[in-house]
Amino acid sequence: MLDLREHIPSGKKAMKMLIAIIKPFRLDAVREALADAGVQGMTVTEVRGFGRQKGHTELYRGNEYTVDLLPKIKLEVALAPETVDRAVEAIQKAAKTGQIGDGKIFVFDLDQAVRIRTGEAGVGAV
Ligand SMILES: Nc1ncnc2c1ncn2[C@@H]1O[C@H](COP(=O)(O)OP(=O)(O)OP(=O)(O)O)[C@@H](O)[C@H]1O
Ligand SMILES: [Mg+2]
Repeated sequence: MLDLREHIPSGKKAMKMLIAIIKPFRLDAVREALADAGVQGMTVTEVRGFGRQKGHTELYRGNEYTVDLLPKIKLEVALAPETVDRAVEAIQKAAKTGQIGDGKIFVFDLDQAVRIRTGEAGVGAV
């Protein structure tokens, strides 16, 4: 059986996992900015959420939503540690409109990643 622990390079910094919640119409710009930052893959999900205004005063497609949960896009990106700062900056720049509801970026330590086809693990897999 594959022991994932043995693939974690000792003494090296862990990979990072980044979750970003953005406005749907900024997705193309963010995707391009992340590609320019060297990101090789990502997962995109349509989600709903709210922030401090609880969705009440935010506009979506020109309409003020009366519901609490607004449509957002969730991006999940696994990264080599040295790519994180560039990726966060790229998302912030490309997703920002300056209006409320622009979203959030969350960064986590990522213990392991495995590229299924090749069996590569660790930074080589992302
Ligand atoms: N604390 C949180 N935890 C998890 N998801 C969050 C959190 N805050 C915001 N989100 C997600 O991000 C989306 C956008 O949040 P939003 O940008 O409105 O945050 P905010 O704190 O209200 O900032 P702003 O004042 O700029 O609107 C939400 O719809 C939700 O999906
Ligand atoms: Mg808000």
